Amino acid sequence: MLPAYLPNPVAALFGGGTPIDQGKNYSDGKRVLGDGKTYRGLIFGVLGGIGIGLVQIELFGIFHLEPMPEHTVLSVILLATGALLGDLCKSFFKRRLGKDRGEKWPIADQYDLVVGSLLLVLLIDPGWLLGNLTLPVFLAILILTPLLHRAVNILGYRMKVKEVPW
Ligand code: CTP
Ligand code: MG
Repeated sequence: MLPAYLPNPVAALFGGGTPIDQGKNYSDGKRVLGDGKTYRGLIFGVLGGIGIGLVQIELFGIFHLEPMPEHTVLSVILLATGALLGDLCKSFFKRRLGKDRGEKWPIADQYDLVVGSLLLVLLIDPGWLLGNLTLPVFLAILILTPLLHRAVNILGYRMKVKEVPW
């Protein structure tokens, strides 16, 4: 899941500049996505996720990690892209609910990247997902994701990269 997990922290580190919604409001008068979703964050985040995935593919061969799920270039691209598409969709609905940028939205804030990344793989490379996402792997993702999310966000807050520790 590293190619899905890395894009968010990379976006927080390198994001900023022009927001993807260009500062525009939706028909409800609220921002479409908000200032927290920028082109730079999206592009660097996806590239970061793909980068770590390509490293994983290399290490797999060198260290004979055959018992572990094996990534392909496609699975890596889909996980990284899907993670931030999930994050964008989350923010779209978060704004519709009237929640401001950075406000808490439990469950959605933690699992947006899981839903987005796995859904995109399911749509475009279902064989990879069915071959690798066993029940224990899926349960591990469900348990580890909120824990990692919390830990990384506290770290990001202390490093002054994130404005809120969640
Ligand atoms: N970020 C970005 N571009 C993205 C995603 C994230 O620039 N596509 C950066 C922004 O600086 C953002 C930070 O990463 O503030 C943390 O991301 P996230 O928690 O997803 O955004 P929030 O600011 O909390 O906004 P939202 O309420 O919409 O989730
Ligand atoms: Mg947030």
